[in-house]
Amino acid sequence: MFPKQVSIFEVGARDGLQNEKPVSTQDKIVLIQDLAKAGIKRIEAASFVSPKWVPQMADSGEVLRNMKREADVIYSALTPNLKGLELALDAKADEVAIFGAASESFSQRNINCSIQESIARFVPLMERAKAENIRVRGYVSCVLGCPYEGEIAVSEVARVSEILYKMGCYEISLGDTIGVGTPNNARKMVQAVSQVVPVAQLALHFHDTYGQALANILACLETGVSVVDSSVAGLGGCPYAKGASGNLASEDLVYMLHGLGIETGIDIDLLAKAGNSISQALGRQTGSKVAQALIS
Ligand code: HMG
Ligand code: MG
Repeated sequence: MFPKQVSIFEVGARDGLQNEKPVSTQDKIVLIQDLAKAGIKRIEAASFVSPKWVPQMADSGEVLRNMKREADVIYSALTPNLKGLELALDAKADEVAIFGAASESFSQRNINCSIQESIARFVPLMERAKAENIRVRGYVSCVLGCPYEGEIAVSEVARVSEILYKMGCYEISLGDTIGVGTPNNARKMVQAVSQVVPVAQLALHFHDTYGQALANILACLETGVSVVDSSVAGLGGCPYAKGASGNLASEDLVYMLHGLGIETGIDIDLLAKAGNSISQALGRQTGSKVAQALIS
């Protein structure tokens, strides 16, 4: 049985733009405002990571300070450590996200520390976030495979997810960082994690590198999961996962969900417009098949 409603967590302005050629701060602001106009209620708008590691996100504070906000939209920011959280609080992010991995090698390359060390880093961040009454989301990368280690044990995905959940993350987003999963193993992974984290607190974050993301999401919706991350126009990839392409395009996801009679609250034409505008700013074609069909 599919859920009646799915909540889309839009990551194009962060996961997408962190791995595209730089665009202006104003282009980012227009994108975020356009996404809100299309009816998206959860937008990852910023990332307070080292600007030496990810220069594309260096203007995150400016973006959050200058964009027009809608009262019913949650604007989120990625924060790897306490320093990132302080910057996110200064810029008035509504919620933040920490990110860990189920693969040691990926953890080292992405955040320069082991899984264990990353968890130690998150402790003071979680304490400060609690004191500030700000919600924290938790990402786990490499849940269906790692660019350096290949296969990742489902037990390790469940172990890291449980740790982040027990630390106080209100939602655990399961990242198929390099898009290698297929429907059966994706569903089995979600079922395994839902033994230790309630399924209502899980989200899917599937990159579309191998063109499997839509099929994988469809398979996982049967587990009861009802939050899906996606990226308008299929923007992006991951700077620490060579060859990774963007998350599944939001337009393609919304089209499928509406076709299944699942509500999202999103206006697909306005969503496609938002994706087409940012694609123009990037000088490239949209990565969404649905948006291409709607324009032609
Ligand atoms: P480090 O070099 O180990 O950190 O990096 P450090 O504490 O030794 O600090 C080094 C320098 O960075 C210092 O500056 C710090 O002040 C600065 P310096 O003295 O050299 O001038 N620094 C910061 N600056 C701004 N904001 C901060 C911050 N922290 C330290 N928050 C660190 C460790 C985690 C910072 C670094 O490895 C980093 O920024 N990594 C981020 C990598 C990243 O953004 N990856 C992409 C996002 S994750 C992703 O896309 C996956 C996801 O989508 C899920 C999926 O698909 O699987 C979420
Ligand atoms: Mg990602």
